[in-house]
Amino acid sequence: MTSHIPTTSGSPALPPSAIQSEDQLDEIMTRPSPRLIEHVKTLKSPLLVLGAAGKMGPSLAVSVQRAAAAAGHDLKIIAVSRFSGSQTRQWLESRGVATITCDLLERGAFEQLPDTLNLIYLVGLKFGTQQNPSLTWAVNTLVPTHVVERFPQARTVALSTGNVYPLVPVNSGGANETDLLTPLGEYSNAAVARERLFEYSARKYGTPLALLRLNYAVDLRYGVLLEIAQKVWANQPVDVTTGYFNCIWQGDANEMIVRSLDLASTPPTAFNLTGAETLSVRELAYRFGELMGRPVGIVSTEAETALLSNPARLCATLGKPATALEMVCGWTAHWVMSGGATLGKATRFEVRDGRF
Ligand SMILES: NC(=O)c1ccc[n+]([C@@H]2O[C@H](COP(=O)([O-])OP(=O)(O)OC[C@H]3O[C@@H](n4cnc5c(N)ncnc54)[C@H](OP(=O)(O)O)[C@@H]3O)[C@@H](O)[C@H]2O)c1
Repeated sequence: MTSHIPTTSGSPALPPSAIQSEDQLDEIMTRPSPRLIEHVKTLKSPLLVLGAAGKMGPSLAVSVQRAAAAAGHDLKIIAVSRFSGSQTRQWLESRGVATITCDLLERGAFEQLPDTLNLIYLVGLKFGTQQNPSLTWAVNTLVPTHVVERFPQARTVALSTGNVYPLVPVNSGGANETDLLTPLGEYSNAAVARERLFEYSARKYGTPLALLRLNYAVDLRYGVLLEIAQKVWANQPVDVTTGYFNCIWQGDANEMIVRSLDLASTPPTAFNLTGAETLSVRELAYRFGELMGRPVGIVSTEAETALLSNPARLCATLGKPATALEMVCGWTAHWVMSGGATLGKATRFEVRDGRF
């Protein structure tokens, strides 16, 4: 399978067969595609990225910064978050992204944010819901309402999750955007509420909005592929009860999130954001076994349902994700074998009862 990662200048460069360091990973993850470079020329300053200090925000913000530099377009990107880990703020600023530290649960925080016509919303809370469900509901519902009230004119791309759907039959091709949002568990229902409150406020103020239901971004430092590879490398059995999933290289997800600003509409539209393939946990475990030279142990059998979504609607407009997952598997195997850094944040993709 061949795949090309575009360089900043827009000419294709062959991707490496292995990624050796976090610096190289960040360079590849934030390398803007020609499509992104074209897209950023249409954006006016500032681009606000809210919830920018998590797993996706830093690489997203820097990829836009690099795209603007490549386009010769003077675009100010402002990353807004609580920045609970101070290193992230420094990492962004050293790469030309401005930062504002604030807690968006506080209404007063919005006064320090500049007006904008383009906004990307990444704020979310999932893990810890079992211990403190009220905080999950507050973050996922109050903040969207504050945001639309403060930026009613802004084209807004708001991240949602594939967890808004119930589990679907594994051979169904995945949930579609028109399916009923009837998931199990408090986090998933708070995520439905996040969408509904965005939608309510956007309709009230005429705000152009696109909701992106993401299923599993993969980096080498976190994600479902990493978790399967780690099990195989550690000679631990792989449980295949949750036997199938979708995922997307995080660099592609970031690029499609930013380009979705053009899809923000009144009334709002929802799109599934993930890779087109339904991936088998069992097959991937054996693939990692081959790549890592390890025997593979499998436990359990595949359940008839899984968390799957169909990205056809978004891909019809933006095109398919550019990065081949077979290549990401190779990168992941090498990363695990060479002891590459990880975030220590499990996806818990095996969860079937909605308890996070
Ligand atoms: N990554 C995935 O595979 C995946 C899959 C499905 C859906 N999503 C959705 O995509 C979005 C981005 O994903 P992610 O993985 O980057 O999420 P993440 O790692 O959880 O990051 C979310 C960010 O929001 C910030 N935040 C939370 N509450 C805040 C508040 N009150 N004020 C200001 N900032 C606040 C966090 O805090 P700090 O600033 O303190 O760090 C963090 O930077 C999330 O909404 C998530 O639900 C992601």
